[in-house]
Amino acid sequence: MIVGVGIDLAEVARYRFDESKLAWFARKIYTEREMSYAMRKRNWPERLAGFFAAKEATRKAFGHAIPWRWIGVTHARSGKPAIELRERAASLMETRGVRTVHLSITHTTSVAAAVVILES
Ligand SMILES: CC(C)(COP(=O)(O)OP(=O)(O)OC[C@H]1O[C@@H](n2cnc3c(N)ncnc32)[C@H](O)[C@@H]1OP(=O)(O)O)[C@@H](O)C(=O)NCCC(=O)NCCS
Repeated sequence: MIVGVGIDLAEVARYRFDESKLAWFARKIYTEREMSYAMRKRNWPERLAGFFAAKEATRKAFGHAIPWRWIGVTHARSGKPAIELRERAASLMETRGVRTVHLSITHTTSVAAAVVILES
């Protein structure tokens, strides 16, 4: 059964960080895995925008704030993205009766979007 849904859009231009902003976001917002995935790509601002949209969509699906770095985006070998709930957010799966978190991300040069569906 679907027990939550969230959607978010992120404007890519806001994620074309300079060096100091990139360092700040890498410390406060993104996980090490997200940073190393994105920074290997030529269009890394699109990737960072997509991950930010995924974090916001996850918050919306659960219906409350969750610290940014407690929500991580990982990828299967196929490239399919997934949400990893980290640290204290990991317990949300059990307390909210969520068995699977589904994530889809898309991005263009100007905008990124993510949809999250929670399944019990
Ligand atoms: C997966 C695919 C459909 C992406 O489409 P696209 O129009 O090139 O790119 P979009 O901007 O819409 O989407 C890119 C995002 O798709 C997601 N994605 C990549 N591979 C995926 C997969 N196998 N399944 C689901 N989502 C995938 C990722 O989140 C990626 O963004 P990220 O790497 O920054 O996280 C395309 O690369 C493709 O056809 N790949 C080969 C076949 C395949 O694996 N198909 C699976 C889905 S049918």
